[in-house]
Formats: sequence, C-alpha cells, structure tokens
Amino acid sequence: MKIAVPKERRPYERRVAITPDTVKKYKALGYDVAVESGAGSESACPDEYYVAAGATIVPDTAILLRDADIVLKVQRPMSESEGRNEIGLLKHGAVLIGMLNPYGARGDLEVYAQNNITTMSMELVPRSPRAQAMDVLSSQSNLAGYKSVLDAAEQFGRAFLMMMTAAGTVPPARVMVMGAGVAGLQAIATAHRLGAIVSATDVRPAAREQVESLGATFVMVETEETKQAETAGGYAKEMSEDYKRRQAALIAETIKKQDIVICTALIPGRAAPNLISEDMLKTMKPGSVVVDLAVEQGGNCALSEVGKIVEAYNVKIVGHRNMPSRIAVDASSLYARNLFNLVALISAKSDGKLAIDWNDDIVRAITLTHQGSVVNAHFAKAD
Ligand code: NAI
Repeated sequence: MKIAVPKERRPYERRVAITPDTVKKYKALGYDVAVESGAGSESACPDEYYVAAGATIVPDTAILLRDADIVLKVQRPMSESEGRNEIGLLKHGAVLIGMLNPYGARGDLEVYAQNNITTMSMELVPRSPRAQAMDVLSSQSNLAGYKSVLDAAEQFGRAFLMMMTAAGTVPPARVMVMGAGVAGLQAIATAHRLGAIVSATDVRPAAREQVESLGATFVMVETEETKQAETAGGYAKEMSEDYKRRQAALIAETIKKQDIVICTALIPGRAAPNLISEDMLKTMKPGSVVVDLAVEQGGNCALSEVGKIVEAYNVKIVGHRNMPSRIAVDASSLYARNLFNLVALISAKSDGKLAIDWNDDIVRAITLTHQGSVVNAHFAKAD
C-alpha cells in the first residue's frame, strides 16, 4: 500500500506529518512512501533526506494523492469553500489520518463520508497509558509550553536568573503559570530551569503535587466544588460564578507581584476561562509580559489578540497562533512518531497492508467516518 504525505498549506503551519526517520519505519512495515516536494522544508527535512530514507518525491499534490491508500496530514485538508479542494483530491476508499478538528469543522465529516474516505482524528486519541505514544495533544502541548516561556523571555527586558555581580544584584524573575496541564507543567519546568521563581494555579487539586514536584509554588482556591472539578478524563470543568469570583480575587492579589504570566487554562469544548481582566493588567509591574497560549480558544487574558503582541498599561500581551508550529522541527518529529505509532497499531506486521481491528478502543475513539458514513458515536449522535 502507498502512504502519501502532502505539503501543509494552511497559513502559519510549518510542520510536516512525516520525517526521514519515520519514512524508514514505514518502509520496514512494507509500505511505499511518497512525499510532496517541499513538504518538510520548514521542519528541517529537505527532499533529499526523504529520498535517502527511501521515499519518492512527487512535485504535484493531485498526482501524489490519486493512488494513495493512506494519507498523513498535520491539519485537516482544505475544502472547496477554502479555495483549494484538497479533500476532493483524495482517492475514494483512502484512509486519512491527521488532526482533523472534528469539533471545529464538523461539516467536513459529511464530505469525507460522501467521498468514502475513512478518517482518523489524532486529537481524539484517548488519554490512556496504552495510547500515550500516539497522544498528539501531549506531544504538541509540551513543546508549546516550553516555547511560550522562550517567547516571554524574548519580550522581557530583564533576566530570569538571579545574578550577583560587582555592579549589583539582578533579581530573579517571578513567573506565574495559569493552568497546570501538559503545557503548563512544561512551562513551569522551563521557567524554573531558567532560574525564575515560579508559581502556578489550577482548578484541579491533583495538579498540586505535580506543580510542587517541579519546584514551583501552587496557589488555588480550594472549595467543595474543586473536589469535582476534574472529569473522568482528567480535564477541567467550567466553574460556578461564585468560584470564578473567588478565583479572580486570588489572581488579582497574586498577579501584581509577577513579572511574567503564562496562560494555558483550557476547558474542552468550551471557550477558555477568562482569568486576567483589564483591571488586573493595570496592576502589573511595567515591563511585565503575559503569554496567552489559550488565545485561539478565546484567551485567558481579556486583552490578548490572536497573532498579535498587544501593549497595554506597560504590559506586553503575546498571542502567537499555532504555538507548536513555532518550534516546527521538534513538533514535526514528535507528531510524525505519534502518527507512526498509530499506523503501526493498525497495520499487519511487515507486508505493507492495513489490518484494522475495529473493536480496538483507540481505533473506535479516533475513527470519524468509514464506508460512507459518520461512524464515531459522538458525532453520529449529534446528526
Ligand atoms: P487542557 O489543555 O484541557 O487544560 C490545561 C489546564 O488548564 C488543565 O490543567 C486544566 O485543569 C486547567 N484549567 C482549566 N480551567 C481552569 C481555570 N479556570 N483556572 C485554572 N486552570 C484551569 O489539559 P491538558 O493539558 O490536555 O491535560 C488534561 C489532563 O489530562 C491532565 O489531568 C493531565 O494530567 C491528563 N493527561 C493524561 C495523559 C495520559 O494519561 N496519557 C496524557 C496527558 C495528559
């Protein structure tokens, strides 16, 4: 069977779904691999590296895809209404695997089904120990958390580390991380390694131990409500108005002592919680920096704007989009390995063929469409 990897064409996307390293692994499974020319150019994967690993380079997307059995993508293919009909280029019966954004692009599911494309969405990989090697949310959030601290450092006119010099002492930076999930924990670890004094907050009491084990201080409003703040999947729930008021008072008190705030708080399926108000920004020290990783989901900071660095009240509020793509080489490398681990799960040992166990819990969770229908229980139900 043939695996094909087209170039990502959505704006601000620099990642690629295959690396030369994973080409070799697919070849070892018996697959033929074809990559669109230039697909890896922004992830330090030039065409000749793919060729050396055993892939064929194809200059044209339509030719690449017309006989591809498995298509690997970072983001969902573009549709006719977006001016480039990539979905229409897929062979009927092909298997498409990528971050297909089924919640944001529900309409695509019908098109995949009509075109008889089997689709598997990597964001839906369960957060279970068995699926960890395929967990793209973790691999990408981890790098985003790291990069967010470097972005803060770039905008911050001071050092993170305490320095005692003959000319005087440079105080350490104070960094606060809002939301201690995968991205937040990596942001804490990174800021700590750079020498900052770090604190963090969350609504899940379980986060305390993880935060403290990284050398940071944990602050939170702990109430009866927070005992149920975590879903079975480990995610946060939306909190009550009373809780939000109490949490705002705590943040207002804490934030004025901070130099840098990294925002990572998210609630699946809802807008990101608004944690930093304009009034709070007014109390921050001149030269402080807020990096809002949640900006594309509505933002944790009232003044953050997607794709912009806003300056207000002497504070810089950074709202870069697609943070994993800003560290594209490592993000592609980890994402490509997540994909390979999934393809290995659904492949026969070494004869280059798929052998999908439709009862496997990972396969069931991620499959959106198959044999002309929307088969995912979650999305089919809402029809
Ligand atoms: P996420 O990206 O959905 O949210 C980020 C963080 O924001 C979470 O820690 C959440 O509790 C926090 N948050 C939400 N609302 C907040 C508010 N109002 N104030 C402060 N913080 C708020 O979460 P992520 O990073 O995807 O992790 C979710 C969970 O999944 C965690 O419990 C994590 O430990 C778990 N996990 C499990 C894995 C596994 O078992 N294989 C792999 C990765 C994560």
